[in-house]
Amino acid sequence: MKRARLALLISGRGSNMAAILEAAGPDYPAEPVLVLSNRADAAGLGVAAAKGVPTAVVESRAFKGDRAGFEAAMEAELARHGVEIIALAGFMRVLTADFVRRWEGRLINIHPSLLPAFPGLDTHARALASGVRLHGCTVHLVTAGVDEGPILAQAAVPVLPDDTEARLAARVLAAEHQLYPAALSWLAAGRVRLEAGRANIASVESAPDSLLNPLPRAVLLSTT
Ligand code: GRF
Repeated sequence: MKRARLALLISGRGSNMAAILEAAGPDYPAEPVLVLSNRADAAGLGVAAAKGVPTAVVESRAFKGDRAGFEAAMEAELARHGVEIIALAGFMRVLTADFVRRWEGRLINIHPSLLPAFPGLDTHARALASGVRLHGCTVHLVTAGVDEGPILAQAAVPVLPDDTEARLAARVLAAEHQLYPAALSWLAAGRVRLEAGRANIASVESAPDSLLNPLPRAVLLSTT
């Protein structure tokens, strides 16, 4: 099997990155060849290095107001490692339309809400404030509109009556760690087809995995 050369882009903790590195054994269709951070102090860098995955830092702060320069420096790292697909994993920089266009169909993100509800930041606080009973996460292809690209998979979790933002975030994060490696594997294996702006996954076997709801009882209880 030819594995797609994968870069993971992070800015912080990197727990989704860690879940993907954990899943990416020899049978996984993507091979992590680079973890790239826009911050030198991202905790995920140490996790990646401990797993033997090459890391690089392109400090966004050094390119204040020069997004094209920042992205050119990132492109140089991506090219140096022969990257074919990119997974954003808590990468806190909005990419330009040019960058997104160059990587169209090969650039994927996880967002901590059931899109199109709650795009942007502070999704858990907004979900609590709105009174929704279901919240969750979405894996989607990245397009120029922030948090707007075609959806590959979603996982729903309940919002419980006495939830705090932290408890809800932890419940969603546990779902993210299940969902992201699965959805990324479909993209890497070439099973994602774009039709009329929607992403369809070839093969019905993946259908149950692309809507994780409800979560297994054990996962739910471990985070409440
Ligand atoms: C996650 O909640 C993810 O959905 C969002 O940023 C957070 C990153 O967490 N895009 P981590 O760095 O993967 O732990």
